[in-house]
Amino acid sequence: MLKPLARRSAHVAYAIRDIVQRAREVEARGRKLYKFNIGDPNTFDFRPPKHITDAVVDAMKDGKYTAYAPSDGDPELREALSKIEGVPASDIFVTSGLSEGIDFLFFSLLDEGDDILLPMPSYPLYNTKSRIYGGRGNFYRCDENWEPDLEDMRKKIGARTKAIVVINPNNPTGANYSRRTLQGIADLAAECKVPIIADEIYDKLVLDGEAVNMRSIVKDDTVLISGNGISKNFLYPGARVGYVAIHNEASGALSDAVLRLCNARLSVNWEMQRGALAAFTMGTPHLEEAKQKLRQRRDIIFKRLNEIRGISCAKPLAAFYAFPKITDARWKSDTEFAYSLLEKTGIVSVPGSGFSEGLGGNYFRLVYLAQPQVLNEALDLLEKFMKGGL
Ligand SMILES: Cc1ncc(COP(=O)(O)O)c(C=O)c1O
Repeated sequence: MLKPLARRSAHVAYAIRDIVQRAREVEARGRKLYKFNIGDPNTFDFRPPKHITDAVVDAMKDGKYTAYAPSDGDPELREALSKIEGVPASDIFVTSGLSEGIDFLFFSLLDEGDDILLPMPSYPLYNTKSRIYGGRGNFYRCDENWEPDLEDMRKKIGARTKAIVVINPNNPTGANYSRRTLQGIADLAAECKVPIIADEIYDKLVLDGEAVNMRSIVKDDTVLISGNGISKNFLYPGARVGYVAIHNEASGALSDAVLRLCNARLSVNWEMQRGALAAFTMGTPHLEEAKQKLRQRRDIIFKRLNEIRGISCAKPLAAFYAFPKITDARWKSDTEFAYSLLEKTGIVSVPGSGFSEGLGGNYFRLVYLAQPQVLNEALDLLEKFMKGGL
């Protein structure tokens, strides 16, 4: 007999995939699904640039890369990232997607009762890792365009706040923060002496406005941990290559902790890291077309969502997510809304409460990566659903 599981396993939730089981049941009953729940460009008509996959193939043919890679990452890749981030290569750690980097950071920073200040809403992995490592839930509000509320952020920074997470461009809201907001966050972090964790995994997918990296703004005495990877910007989520770059951490304690975690898990797939090296050193020829497709799809979803009674949506400015508000009071919660939408239309979305408990249960997230015709088909169904006609 299996003894009871560790209590921490109950802390693991991942709303983006949790709805999939129900979607499978709906599909088994013969309904066509619109899988707008997972932000994976390759499920639709996007593919990683050829020079990256070619580099992976070349690495596979070269026996050297079948070995364990150095635990902190391929030396050439770390060198290239060190130039991009402006930190010594010894402060760059290649991880299995940024996901693993987030795990290593939260593992290293949080003791029971500490907190890492998170945006509300937030990418769910942050909430999960915070709970697993005993973090106290602490969240800053955002305004109606999903820009962080600096006053609220200031109020929430306490004696045990170990870091502030800034996800820009943002998942799930599609926001691209203004330089002014980012400067405000940097100033606050300097004043309160709190490190910033800047998740910039979508920083090349800005559709409107300028792309501003936190590293170009923070003061020299603010510890900044930048996270990035090739899953989104280079359309290669299956490669599972990301990294964290630690800026301005004079003691070296955090780098040492992250290095030990890297050592303990041996390495990230080396062949894929060679693909990442091509990504970060050979330009971005794919971006123009990718952004043009995203812009067209963003325009469709933004316009049409706001034409539907009972729904309103702030304009997504980056990445590939829309986070509409349900202004119709027919549903008791956003979970009830999302499951009913799935049953009646086949649209797989993610209830907003999966990204934050504190939003009042009025939101859902849609991924708008699908081709225009598919998007329009789904939006026709959503419109009918909202009119009560399904
Ligand atoms: C904001 C954000 N951070 C991190 C990740 C994880 O990225 P990776 O595929 O590099 O693990 C995602 C994935 O969707 C994300 O949206």
